[in-house]
Amino acid sequence: MAEKALKPMLSVVEKTQDKIIQIKDLQIWINESRILNNITLSIPKNEITCIIGPSGSGKSTLIRSINRINDEVPGISTQGEIIFNGLSINNKNIDLAQLRTQIGMVFQKPCVFPKSIKENVLFGIPHLKKISKLEKFQIAEENLKAVSLWKEVAHRLHDKAISLSLGQQQRLCIARTLAIKPEVILLDEPTSSLDPISARAIEDMMVRLKKKYTIIFVTHNLQQAKRIADNLVFICDGKLIEQGPASKMLSCPSNPETKAYVTDEYCEC
Ligand SMILES: Nc1ncnc2c1ncn2[C@@H]1O[C@H](COP(=O)(O)OP(=O)(O)O)[C@@H](O)[C@H]1O
Ligand SMILES: [Mg+2]
Repeated sequence: MAEKALKPMLSVVEKTQDKIIQIKDLQIWINESRILNNITLSIPKNEITCIIGPSGSGKSTLIRSINRINDEVPGISTQGEIIFNGLSINNKNIDLAQLRTQIGMVFQKPCVFPKSIKENVLFGIPHLKKISKLEKFQIAEENLKAVSLWKEVAHRLHDKAISLSLGQQQRLCIARTLAIKPEVILLDEPTSSLDPISARAIEDMMVRLKKKYTIIFVTHNLQQAKRIADNLVFICDGKLIEQGPASKMLSCPSNPETKAYVTDEYCEC
């Protein structure tokens, strides 16, 4: 439904089957500062792409441009193009709510609403009033199972979401994102506020979910990227240093700066 509504508002640019997102010459300024500098990259479908790089290198700015939540930042200006499923998303007229249905996002800190566990899962679903009670239950069950939370919460769906542990809250946020049936999930350091066991549960979940979704995962934790990434994008000081299959970039990087970063997490760029 969402795709049908989005299409007429966008110009068809090109279709490259296995690359669900292509970013071309993306430049972002905030006021006078250039934050991203000529970023060109592509994101393969149904794989995990990890964006790595030192703190302040522009990882969040990059991922936030993909669902256009950067638009809210005062003083921001963007040049270049982002193509999603062959359609340019930079068009001023696109329906951002629909775009964000197709490209869901999970933030660094779990962001649950002051509602029940079940209501949190259902939160982003349009026309909720028209959905039967049974269907709502089934949607909650399906998505809580997808994030391996069902067994832990099935008996307490009406409890406040805030009563869950942080790790459970973050899995609930992912369930809420899955419930709106996105094609792409953006995650910006989703495990950085979690304990190592909860973080590993989310990593394992991402590896399972990539069969159905394309996952773009920002992390400053190189070990985490090594565990889950199919592809790496290394950015430093707003510049794209290298991108490619994780196996190649970790074992035989083309760029000396990538080599320094993946061996010692050190970068002079
Ligand atoms: N709203 C903002 N206003 C001004 N500068 C910003 C803003 N957001 C980010 N920046 C700057 O942009 C650069 C990249 O930030 P960010 O994308 O958050 O990096 P990362 O996620 O890699 O840590 C940093 O220098 C940061 O200070
Ligand atoms: Mg960040």
